[in-house]
Amino acid sequence: FGTRSLRRIFDDERGYNLNKFCIPNHYMEDLEHVFIPHGLIMDRTERLAREILHDMGGHHIVALCVLKGGYKFFADLLDFIKALNRNCDRSIPLTVDFIRLKSYCVRLNCWCFSMFCGHLLTWFTYLFVMPDIIDTGRTMQTLLNLLKQYKPNMVKVTSLLVKRRSQTPAYRPDYIGFEIPDKFVVGYALDYNEYFRDLNHICVISDNGKEKYKK
Ligand code: HPA
Ligand code: MG
Repeated sequence: FGTRSLRRIFDDERGYNLNKFCIPNHYMEDLEHVFIPHGLIMDRTERLAREILHDMGGHHIVALCVLKGGYKFFADLLDFIKALNRNCDRSIPLTVDFIRLKSYCVRLNCWCFSMFCGHLLTWFTYLFVMPDIIDTGRTMQTLLNLLKQYKPNMVKVTSLLVKRRSQTPAYRPDYIGFEIPDKFVVGYALDYNEYFRDLNHICVISDNGKEKYKK
């Protein structure tokens, strides 16, 4: 497969009725519908792992998990890469690291952040950044500009979700799980004010949910 795959979910996608899936009882009133079932996330992630192995086999990569929302995608994608590593002729040696970003305060010049990057990038220079979602793309651009100051050999971004937006010029990561309409989604570690990380499927939040868990 020469070109990278993309799963696009169109604007008219209605998702799946909550009653057809297993949803924690405490969230039943807070969701509209299941948007991307957990099994589909896993199947798509498995495919991304194959593409990454195809492109990167032989290089040592540093996988950088963007917390907190990226932790499920990060863990599952790495599990698939590890399974391929032990079953294929090619393999990717992996080192992991973690970073916490908040879109409203990317304090990039803070002491601990620059220490972290300097430390990391002198040892390993093939960097894979794994956020959960690219929305406006601004946070990721800021992070990439910072990482590039440390002159890594390569930086690739692998995002589970990318939102289709009309206003902002779209930032496209190198690998994308799903391109989705401009809706607020939760679950599979994506949150709304820290709630819904404990939900397997990616779901669309309801007005009731927004009201109940608003700050
Ligand atoms: N869900 C959760 N977190 C987010 C989203 C979303 O749709 N967009 C940006 N951060
Ligand atoms: Mg969040």
